[in-house]
Amino acid sequence: MNIGIEALSFYVPRYYLDLAALAAARGVDVDKYCIGLGQEKMAVPPPDEDVITMAANAGTQVLTHVDRNSIDTIMFATESGVDQSKAGAIFVHSLLDLPSTCRAFEIKQACCSSTAALDMAVALVHRHPDKKILIVAADVARYGFCTPGEPTQGAGAVAMVVSSSPRLVQLDNESGSYTEDVMDFWRPNYMDEAVVDGKLSIRTYLHALGESWQGYHRQSGRGLDEFERFCYHLPFTRMGEKAHAHLLAIGAATEGGAVSREPICRVSDSLHYNRQIGNSYTASLYISLSSMLEHADDLSGQRIGLFSYGSGCMASFFSGIVGNRYQEWLTGDLHRDMLGDRVELSYEAYEELYAQSGPITGDCQTPVHDTGQFRLAGITGHKRLYERVGASAAVPEPEPVA
Ligand code: COA
Repeated sequence: MNIGIEALSFYVPRYYLDLAALAAARGVDVDKYCIGLGQEKMAVPPPDEDVITMAANAGTQVLTHVDRNSIDTIMFATESGVDQSKAGAIFVHSLLDLPSTCRAFEIKQACCSSTAALDMAVALVHRHPDKKILIVAADVARYGFCTPGEPTQGAGAVAMVVSSSPRLVQLDNESGSYTEDVMDFWRPNYMDEAVVDGKLSIRTYLHALGESWQGYHRQSGRGLDEFERFCYHLPFTRMGEKAHAHLLAIGAATEGGAVSREPICRVSDSLHYNRQIGNSYTASLYISLSSMLEHADDLSGQRIGLFSYGSGCMASFFSGIVGNRYQEWLTGDLHRDMLGDRVELSYEAYEELYAQSGPITGDCQTPVHDTGQFRLAGITGHKRLYERVGASAAVPEPEPVA
């Protein structure tokens, strides 16, 4: 049975900071960010936009041509969850008007949980080929102010429908995984920002890539020359180039120097969107896949390789075949318009939004910003209230502080 990605779309907040402005404020050569990290802009979410509203916006886009009643399960992958108990998927289920028979739950392992969700979705469709699974993955990548991670911040959400009509990418059965207990990046419950040992995270990412590839290679017998393109988890786009060079070196060693094709062209199409958005953790690999499908010349029937990395760490290398006539189902115009229509923030406005890192009390209203179709209206009695933009949710005024 053919199973894979039927539909794919992503959403990013309306605001961004040009990294030239950040470089000027930090007294850093802008080439370090643009060339050394491969980043030009970073998405900045306002306080009335969170992983739920971003995921709901991406979900609305991806369901345009899919019958909502056919969705059997919605899975939410995130490492910026809004509650320790209730799954973000339930809020999104409600905002998307999914049927009450549709299951909803959240799944976590750093940036890799969207790929774990994809694996689980494939298994569910295998059991019930007439069902469709909706995966939403959304994150706000937030590092400490003035830290090395700051220029790699970003935010975004991706939504995918997985089914037995894989119009975009039919997934192969083989995948190689790697798990190791390592503290390269984590976010304790009492912190808003991630704690990161950046250099260790790069070394661990590359090691995990090598191990995952070897596992995949042993299972499938495929060599690197059997792939037309590669997509990588992109904490910053130079990481994709570093990863690809590393993979080719490993491939050349294990395949007796047989890896022939020019390296950069096989990854560059996947970098366009992430360069304009920054890190989006769980969504990053699949925004990279969108970029590749929407920028590369015809990939119909070609095999692509994908590498998913989640700090901590767990990683997977897997693959798929791009569908025939996949171009008819892409939403590239929507993505390009969304990125092109964003509002540029001054450095001062970024600093102000950074300081308002989301609601911290159980009763508050959030200021109205320029958002997508959904926004966080506020919190009352510790309950988050979401609204459709244009339709007001009655959020009671918070009690004055005595
Ligand atoms: N022009 C061009 N390139 C420049 C430059 C300049 N003026 N100045 C520096 N660079 C290059 C460096 O040579 C380096 O490239 P290289 O890695 O190919 O050698 C790159 O820019 C980054 O410089 P570096 O000094 O290593 O940056 P840093 O110490 O500020 O930290 C990260 C970089 C990625 C470790 C940091 O941003 C971080 O911690 N990010 C979050 C964690 C993360 O994304 N991890 C990835 C795996 S999940």
